[in-house]
Amino acid sequence: MAITKDDVLSWIRDYAQVIEENFEMLTDLDREIGDADHGANMRRGFKAVLEKLPSVEDKDIGAILKSVGMTLLSKVGGAAGPLYSTFFMKAGTTIGAKSEMAIDDWAKALEASTAGIAALGKAQPNDKTMLDALYPAVDALNTAIGNGSSNGEALQKSADAAHEGMLATIPLVARKGRASYLGERSAGHQDPGATSSYLLIKSAAETWADS
Ligand SMILES: Nc1ncnc2c1ncn2[C@@H]1O[C@H](COP(=O)(O)OP(=O)(O)O)[C@@H](O)[C@H]1O
Ligand SMILES: [Mg+2]
Repeated sequence: MAITKDDVLSWIRDYAQVIEENFEMLTDLDREIGDADHGANMRRGFKAVLEKLPSVEDKDIGAILKSVGMTLLSKVGGAAGPLYSTFFMKAGTTIGAKSEMAIDDWAKALEASTAGIAALGKAQPNDKTMLDALYPAVDALNTAIGNGSSNGEALQKSADAAHEGMLATIPLVARKGRASYLGERSAGHQDPGATSSYLLIKSAAETWADS
């Protein structure tokens, strides 16, 4: 079974809806250790993505994801804009001009996208960033595929690992981004970017559960 272009479009639409439903929660998290704009940033970006989507929905998966990345770069400021832009651009270039992809293609894309965020933001694991949700998602996906799990199971394991990684940011002291200005006082709060990244992986798992 495969993940089709329509599945990818459904994922992007679903995530835009998830952001709409959770932007206040993301903003509240960012109020604790940042500047209370992460929800608004993501909401603005994915509103623009939804507006642009009809003009690219007849294109291949790579072109669609690259378009999402370019829209995010132009609409979302702060740290998260360029980082999420890189995520979608890398996913698009890794998958390329395909109208459907296998779970292995998604695993490679997720790995390349996560590496792209790490290269741009120069964060390490446990720096209390979105990478702390994404790295476990990559590892769990690869492990599940290696164990012969179904696509749906592998995607669910990936989302579960992202969830654990998100929760594991709570005790961490931030070493990158605005939250790092707080030093030790950043401990005890869940990272907003790890939260939006978990929601992204969860949305893929739910949208592609039957792929
Ligand atoms: N260098 C970095 N690498 C990876 N993620 C980062 C980095 N800096 C910040 N982030 C992520 O960005 C999130 C904050 O996003 P946002 O509030 O939209 O931007 P800003 O911090 O500029 O206000 C953080 O919670 C963190 O997960
Ligand atoms: Mg912020």
